[in-house]
Amino acid sequence: MTGWATFWWAIFPYISLTIFVGGHIYRYATDRYGWGSHSSQILEQRILGWASPLFHYGIILVLLGHVPGILIPSSWLDALGISESLYHLLAVGLGGIAGLMMVVGLVGLLWRRWTVERVRRISLFSDHLVLVVLLIVGLLGLGATYGYQLFVEPYNYRLTVGPWFRSLFTFHPDVALMASAPLIYQLHVASTFVLYIIWPFTRLVHVWSFPIAYLRRAAILYRARGGLAKVPAAATLPVERKRG
Ligand code: HEM
Repeated sequence: MTGWATFWWAIFPYISLTIFVGGHIYRYATDRYGWGSHSSQILEQRILGWASPLFHYGIILVLLGHVPGILIPSSWLDALGISESLYHLLAVGLGGIAGLMMVVGLVGLLWRRWTVERVRRISLFSDHLVLVVLLIVGLLGLGATYGYQLFVEPYNYRLTVGPWFRSLFTFHPDVALMASAPLIYQLHVASTFVLYIIWPFTRLVHVWSFPIAYLRRAAILYRARGGLAKVPAAATLPVERKRG
């Protein structure tokens, strides 16, 4: 086994997860009031209105899809009667659609952040960085799902990437398994560990303080104090829209 493979598949994941946990503790201790999503809804709603739900629903479905693919041994699904070909069909069909939703949503969010002057001006470096890294992770994932699986050969990552990922939790990472996976899978997985490193220092921390209710909550309407006259943003008050 090369030292390179050992670094990426036995050392880097633990460095990344240590920074992930330690970074959250540090951020909470030093920046409790900056902990949140830093919503810019008040500045632009048209693009946000479709891009944000598309991204959020997409990523939730993608991560749910990773549970049977990565966390659950394939023998368990075999025992339930889900054959490799059925699994493959579902992974490429449903997983691919979810991945596309996530990526298209991300492109919308990036486009908004770069082209809407007011949003761009309040954006931190970390706001750009996190969207770009998420996009890279998503594109590499789609590259594996659509690019490799459909155009190169069907690949059963449940025999390599999945067991390697689970072996991380027993502190005996099976480097050879992951090192044998096609490059696009390796790049996708390595990029997710880069994501975990930057996560605590970005607006992604809102994931831990944001219950699922967010996806269903009513939009916040901003109304002018004095009726419908045009007023600067600073003179508006948030009003929660009533349901139903
Ligand atoms: C270490 C954790 C992860 C592992 C081991 C992993 C592994 C994989 C694998 C093996 C695939 C290919 C599926 C196929 O060929 O059908 C895939 C696809 C994908 N992954 Fe990941 N992934 C991880 C984390 C993530 C994260 C955190 C995200 C998003 C932020 C993500 C986003 C995607 C997307 C968008 C796809 C393509 C669509 C899909 O198949 O659902 N992955 N991932």
